[in-house]
Amino acid sequence: NIDSNFQFILFGGTGDLAHNKIIPAFYNLVARDILTNKYTIIATGRRYKNKNEYLAALYKSLKNKKKKIDSKHWKKLASHLEYFQLSFKNEADFKKLENHLVQKDKTEKISERIFYLATAPKFFAEIAKKLDKFNLLNAGFKTNNSKLVIEKPFGHDFKSAQKLNNTLSKIFSEKNIFRIDHYLGKEMIQNIMVIRLSNPIFRALWNKEHIDNIQIYLNESEGVKDRGKYYDDTGVIKDMFQNHILQILSLITMEEPENLSAAEISQKKVEVFKELADNDLSNIDEHIVRGQYSSNIIENKNSKKSIKAYREEKEIDPNSKTATFMALKLFLNNQRWQDVPIYLKSGKRLNKKEAAIAIEFKDDFHAAYTEDQKLSSNILLIKIQPEEGVSLRFNTRKPASNNKIVPVEMEFCQSCQQFFNSPENYEGLIYDMIAGDKTLFTSWEEVSYSWKFIDKIQKKCQEQKIKLHSYPAQTGGPKAADKLLEADNRIWQDKK
Ligand code: BG6
Repeated sequence: NIDSNFQFILFGGTGDLAHNKIIPAFYNLVARDILTNKYTIIATGRRYKNKNEYLAALYKSLKNKKKKIDSKHWKKLASHLEYFQLSFKNEADFKKLENHLVQKDKTEKISERIFYLATAPKFFAEIAKKLDKFNLLNAGFKTNNSKLVIEKPFGHDFKSAQKLNNTLSKIFSEKNIFRIDHYLGKEMIQNIMVIRLSNPIFRALWNKEHIDNIQIYLNESEGVKDRGKYYDDTGVIKDMFQNHILQILSLITMEEPENLSAAEISQKKVEVFKELADNDLSNIDEHIVRGQYSSNIIENKNSKKSIKAYREEKEIDPNSKTATFMALKLFLNNQRWQDVPIYLKSGKRLNKKEAAIAIEFKDDFHAAYTEDQKLSSNILLIKIQPEEGVSLRFNTRKPASNNKIVPVEMEFCQSCQQFFNSPENYEGLIYDMIAGDKTLFTSWEEVSYSWKFIDKIQKKCQEQKIKLHSYPAQTGGPKAADKLLEADNRIWQDKK
C-alpha cells in the first residue's frame, strides 16, 4: 500500500488521457484500497469552472468505461480531488497555483510532488520551464525530489528529443523523470522477463543455437480515430515502433540482468538499443514493407459497412504518404542473436486487434522422426492482448496412428482465469511512480538510441524511395509483408 503524503498535480486534467486512463486508474487504486488517506490530486485545466463541473464530467467518463461504479469508492476519490482552473499559457495562473500549494502545505505536510503532464507533447518543455520559474517544485516545502511524468512521444526525432531532454534535465534529475510507455504497464510485457528467466526450459534455449526466429506483432483494427493531425506527422514508425515495439524487443533480446534493479535492467536494454542504432540497414529495401490503408466495404450477412481510406480520415492530408503499417526484418549483431531474424510488424485497420510475441525454435529433431514426415517447430507464443496468456506448441503422437506426429498447443490463458482481474496498464504505472520504482519507465539512454535507430530507418527509406503499399482497410495488411517471410520459408504466426 502507498502511505505517502503525495501531491499529484495533473496538467491536462480535462483531457482524454486524464479522463480515460489516469483518473480511472486512481479509482481502481482506491477500490483496491491501495491508497491511504493522505494524498491530494490537483487536476488543472481550462475547460471547467469549478470542482463540481469537473467531477460531473469525470463521473460521466468513468461511467462510460466501467459498468459499475461503487459510490463509496467514487466519493472517497472525489474527496481527494481538487480542480484548479489554469491555462498553461497564463503566467498569473502559475503564480496562483504556487500560492495555493504554499497554503496547502501549511495544513498538510506533504512528502513529495508529482507533476504529470497529460498534455500535448509540444507543451512539455514550456510547462516544465514554468514549474521551475514559479518555484512549484519547492513551493511551501524544500525538496529536490519532485517528480515529472510525461507521455510519449518524447520528441519527434533524436535532435528534438535531445533538446527536450536538455530542458527537462536542467529542472528534474533523471531519477525523477518518468517517461511512460504504457506497453510496459501491460501484464504480459511485465511477464516477459519472468518467462525468460525463471523457467530453465526457456532460459537454456534463449539464443541463436536454439531459436530460429523472433516475431513481434502489434496489430490494431482501429483507424486513426480523431487523432489525424498527430498521426499524419507521426505514422506507425514513430507511433508504435520507436517506443512499444522496440521496448518489447529489448526485453526479449537483452542479455540477462544480474539483478532486478531498474538501473541494471535499463542498462541491458540500452545495449540492445545501441546495437540497433549501429545496424547498417544497407539492404533495408529488402527488409521493410510500408503500407497505408485504403477504403473497403465489409459485408456481413445482414450488414454492409464502408470503411474510409486513411487519406479520407479527418485532418489527414488527402495526398498523405504516411505509413499506417510497417513490417521490418532485422538482425542483432551479437553473440546471442547473430543471424536470427527478428520480424516486427504493426499496423492500423488490420482485420483484428492482436498483439503477441512468437519465439520459434529451430527444427532440431531426431532424424528418425523426420525420415517420412515433416514436423512442426516448437513455438512459444506470448499473447499480449486482447487475450493475455502463453501457448506452447509441441509435437505428440497422433492417437491410434502409426507413429504419426501432430503438433498440439498447451495453453495458459491468464485473462480467462476467473479469479484474476488484470489491472489496467496505468494502475501499476501510477503506483510505481509514487513508489519511485523506474523499472517500467524508459530511460533517456533508451529513448535516445531508439530515436537514432528510427531516424536511420526514416533516412534510408527516403533515400531509397521505399514504396508505400496500399492495403484495404480491415484486412491482413500488404501482401508484401507476408512475402517478406515467405522468402525466408517462414510465415507470420498471426497468419497461420
Ligand atoms: C498508442 C498509440 O501509444 O498506443 C496509438 O499512440 C495506439 O496509436 C495505442 O492505438 C495502442 O495501445 P493499446 O494499449 O490499445 O494497444
